[in-house]
Amino acid sequence: MDYKRYLITAALPYANGPVHIGHLAGCYLPADIYVRYQKAQKRDVKFVCGSDEHGVPITIRAMKEGITPQQVVDNYHALIKSSFEQMGIAFDVYSRTSSPTHHATSQAFFKKLYDEGMFETKESEQYFDEEKQVFLADRYIIGTCPFCGNENAYGDQCEKCGSALSPEQLINPHSALSRSTPVKRKTKHWYFPLNQYEDFLKEWIIEGKKDQWKANVYGQCKSWLDAGLQPRAMTRDSNWGVPVPLPDAAGKVLYVWFDAPIGYISATKELTNLWSDYWQKEDTKLVHFIGKDNIVFHCIIFPAMLKAHGGYLLPENVPANEFLNIEGDKVSTSRNWAVWVHEYVSDFPDMQDALRYVLCANAPETKDNDFTWKDFQDRVNNELAAILGNYVNRVFVLMHKLCGGRVPAFHKEVSDERDVQLEQDILAAKQKVENSIEEYRFRDALFEVIDLARKGNKYMQEKEPWIVAKTLEVHPENQKLIDNCLHHCLQLTANLAILIQPFLPHTAAKMCKMMKVVDRMLEWANAGRMDLLKANYPLPAPEILFRKIEDAEVAAQVQKLKDRSLQNQPKVTEAAAPAASPAKESIAFDDFAKVELRVGKIVSAQKVEKADKLLQLQVDMGSEMRTIVSGIALHFSPEDIVGKQVVVVANLAPRKMRGIESNGMILMAEGEGGKLTFVSPESVVPAGSEVR
Ligand code: 2FM
Ligand code: ZN
Repeated sequence: MDYKRYLITAALPYANGPVHIGHLAGCYLPADIYVRYQKAQKRDVKFVCGSDEHGVPITIRAMKEGITPQQVVDNYHALIKSSFEQMGIAFDVYSRTSSPTHHATSQAFFKKLYDEGMFETKESEQYFDEEKQVFLADRYIIGTCPFCGNENAYGDQCEKCGSALSPEQLINPHSALSRSTPVKRKTKHWYFPLNQYEDFLKEWIIEGKKDQWKANVYGQCKSWLDAGLQPRAMTRDSNWGVPVPLPDAAGKVLYVWFDAPIGYISATKELTNLWSDYWQKEDTKLVHFIGKDNIVFHCIIFPAMLKAHGGYLLPENVPANEFLNIEGDKVSTSRNWAVWVHEYVSDFPDMQDALRYVLCANAPETKDNDFTWKDFQDRVNNELAAILGNYVNRVFVLMHKLCGGRVPAFHKEVSDERDVQLEQDILAAKQKVENSIEEYRFRDALFEVIDLARKGNKYMQEKEPWIVAKTLEVHPENQKLIDNCLHHCLQLTANLAILIQPFLPHTAAKMCKMMKVVDRMLEWANAGRMDLLKANYPLPAPEILFRKIEDAEVAAQVQKLKDRSLQNQPKVTEAAAPAASPAKESIAFDDFAKVELRVGKIVSAQKVEKADKLLQLQVDMGSEMRTIVSGIALHFSPEDIVGKQVVVVANLAPRKMRGIESNGMILMAEGEGGKLTFVSPESVVPAGSEVR
């Protein structure tokens, strides 16, 4: 079918954390490459995305950070949006599901299904927090995992051992909101009869998409359909989300997976008044780019919803990628095992394309793949810099050296087979890149572009214009051979800029600047032409396209990953967490048991002469009074701490400080900006009590 327009969506990321490079590799980068390519083909394309701001993960994060869900989504929406912009992921609209347009659109969608009698209502028993007076989604119920003993397992999953759970399986279940034991209560919800769409989905997917969709996507859909579909609740008890637009639905919101995909429609509405052309005209090609965990929602549930509503197109394809692991381990936001995009951009400024390159060259298109910083270094240094960067640099240097810094003319009379071969190589590469991108094989497509640069290096090596230059004194007519070689090399450079543009847009822009051509040259139709740069045109000295990655940078990133995984997830709502000190070696319990910790009460405090940082304290340890010298004078004045209960390392060997013998050490916690606070018992205990 000849499509008139393209609507490309990328999964709306949850605004409950920053985006990591696995998100980029799985969904946003392939989508962006596809869109940039289609736009270079001058096709009518809209690229829509936005933040998914509803659902339980957002409320959980708010709870963890002690702020409101609105604050969470405001902070992360801004961070995610700027991470995408910095990486050159060029959405036409990046909206958010808290927008009024989205609330109205998703409510109207629900209402239409409701008015047409599509929903069944069902009462069921659900956990309820009596203290907070709210129903608890499975994620809100915490307890001990029956499989691994993790005391912080969720009602739907244990993040430690990965088991899928139901709240009933948890030992000692309690509410994540109040920590009270939840009770079962009746609640009513609106169910979408997914089962009634089984035949339609089978025909559409099993019969229609078998050879078009990726095997992983098709396979997942088939097993869902083979297992049989059940009605699915499309409402939830919560005060965070799109309110259910019915009079008898107070305290109920739309299920996040009902409203989120409608977010694609809302975002298109915000982008253009012609939004319905993109959603409702048959000659539009709708493609959803997602990660593999979203397959069922985009291939089964959303299409059934669209079908039930009527009047909307279904996706032509849903090219989901698999997952990208990091240094051999699954990405985990709770363990902070991830490479965050905003951190990459700040650690490697102006190297967005290096990451785009590596993530595409190693994209998890057919299976889970691993990202390692060593592989990042190898690919950037040995492929990007050594092949593409080196080729462009050599061409410019030689053109300055052998052709007076101008684009040399082409002299047909001395052209040879090798020149023709290079022209054919360019045309063949263009065709292969096109075919691969159209079939969502971005790794193959990128490989072809780099391979073409490799062929350029080989062409230059075979033509050896620097050797020919040595014959000029005797054979001045050989300048034509040199001109032809550099002419071809420069035209290839222009072609490489066009072909690489969807993958590495910043690099393509740099190359355009070096060739003094406008971006319009990057139109796909220009690829294959050998007259893109005009003869005699003076060109500047080359810029280095890619710098190399040093061993120390690799080591620092690996260390950072390890250090940080010991901390909690990064927060954008607070000042950056202090850098974790490197993990200390583990110690045996017996070693820990050697440390004697006791509660003491500070009974007097005075400054130590000529020592700004030291206070001399008298501490009541129950059976004795101790003198302890502590380095806290810059944080506390003596009068403020008298009477405080503190934790003392009681069996530390005595130590002299400024001539005063100190008999013990006081434990302190270091907060933001190095601010110290005492570690104290929560309620008063007798002086001398042991801390265990
Ligand atoms: O998995 C996720 O991050 C979801 N927020 C994706 C939603 S995609 C779409 F339906 F909006
Ligand atoms: Zn477990």
